[in-house]
Amino acid sequence: MQNYYVSTPIYYVNDEPHIGHAYTTIAADVLARYHRMAGCNVLFLTGVDEHGQKVEQAAGLKGIAPIELAEEVVERYRSLWPQLEISNDDFVRTTEARHKRAVTEIWKRIEAAGAIYKGFYEDLYCVPCETYWTATQIKDSGHADDKRCPDCGRPVEQVKEESYFFRLGDYQEQLLEHIRANPDFIGPESRRNEVLRFVEGGLRDLSVSRTTFSWGIPVPGDDAHVIYVWIDALTNYLTGAGFPDKETPHWPCDVHLIGKDILRFHAVYWPCMLLAAGIPLPKRVYAHGWWTVEGEKMSKSKGNALRPDQLIEEFGTDSIRYFLLREVPFGQDGDFSHAALKQRYNTELANDLGNLLNRSLSMLHKYQGGVLAACSSEQESDRGLVAAVESMQRDVDAAMQRQAFHEALEKINGVVRLGNRYVEDNAPWALSKQGETERLATVLYHLVESLRLVVLQLVPFMPGKCAMMLSQIMNEALNVEALRLVDHGGWGLLAEGHACARPSPVFPRME
Ligand code: MSP
Repeated sequence: MQNYYVSTPIYYVNDEPHIGHAYTTIAADVLARYHRMAGCNVLFLTGVDEHGQKVEQAAGLKGIAPIELAEEVVERYRSLWPQLEISNDDFVRTTEARHKRAVTEIWKRIEAAGAIYKGFYEDLYCVPCETYWTATQIKDSGHADDKRCPDCGRPVEQVKEESYFFRLGDYQEQLLEHIRANPDFIGPESRRNEVLRFVEGGLRDLSVSRTTFSWGIPVPGDDAHVIYVWIDALTNYLTGAGFPDKETPHWPCDVHLIGKDILRFHAVYWPCMLLAAGIPLPKRVYAHGWWTVEGEKMSKSKGNALRPDQLIEEFGTDSIRYFLLREVPFGQDGDFSHAALKQRYNTELANDLGNLLNRSLSMLHKYQGGVLAACSSEQESDRGLVAAVESMQRDVDAAMQRQAFHEALEKINGVVRLGNRYVEDNAPWALSKQGETERLATVLYHLVESLRLVVLQLVPFMPGKCAMMLSQIMNEALNVEALRLVDHGGWGLLAEGHACARPSPVFPRME
């Protein structure tokens, strides 16, 4: 069985989950579900990032210990994911013993390769981004104020302390070669070019330890230092794969899904760390865009961060999952608005898909007592529908390999629209009136069978709604997680004589 490994970033525990965190996790979930359905042995990993100065400061503000804050926030993530139908196989906390072993081990391997040395760091640091900056970088970033982070615009602090350094610069050429030789290593294309330009600009050695706070994993053999939180956090991807205690059949990871803001860490620091440690590089890093909410940037100060649990209450899990992956091409920025969600839901799910299922099953009940009969009168339009379904299956597969969720959904919706036209063109009501029973049976069969295969492709996106739709078609409660494309994806598997359930609305209109 082929392995497939997909990861999300691990989320900082200084703040509660919002729609941005849900976005990556839903996208990763869709890939995980799709690949399970395609027969792969899947590892889908998510988790939380508990260490570092930012979390320590957030806990300090609340007057509690960092671990207490972590315990509180980790529960929010752990309880949110099942509500969003997230099917992760593991959940890494960076305070776990297995993770500390992994981080300690990778540090030792990098050190053994001669890529770590002790020095003195004297420059600037952005705590919210957990990022080092030089004065020149900050000046070049164009901020009028030279004390602000080029990425987030918040004040940076002066850091002056003994530090271990990673010889990042030594891996520059190897990394460039790797990126050039593996066009799929970084996606989308625009991000790949951005990384290439950055690396070509030269890599400076990276400070990888701190001494002025203690909330982290100690440097092996030097307790006065804690390991830089990004070195700690990135290693979670190995921890979840079993490193260093077990065999790691899932490594290298098939795709790290991340947001565009943390691309440099994943596409530069992480591969260089792995090169130094002699560990294979992930196959792909894919950076998605950012969401605004009703046209505005989400921020703590505005208090407008969109909380997934509130949205679930308002719209339901599957509508959110569908909207997030359909509205914006994965990789681009987008805006979340209530109006846009309702609009998409009403047109694509309620009108097009829900309606097609409802009218198809209703007609089957009205004209044939809910029972499918033999397809003895095939015509060109039937063969057209079958061909469209089969090419959709191929297109969806290709899109999923490129994380092009919006494209996959567009292909699926294309077949739904074709199905609605097929109904109009073949007018089952007229066939019934004219007593053309064989032709009528053929049309109804093609409708129901094409819907079954459309819904099967939608399972990874909307597992709950698809379970409802398939249970109407199959006339039994189904465990959608057990469905496999090889067993269930072929045309013609619905048998003549099969009775479908009576339809009930799956996507009631939103007002
Ligand atoms: N802890 C680090 C990641 C370490 S991974 C080894 C971190 N955590 S985070 O909680 O701040 O952010 C996690 C993810 O949320 C990032 O991928 C980021 O892009 C994403 N998002 C945060 N706000 C977002 C939006 N408004 N829209 C989309 N994604 C956003 O960074």
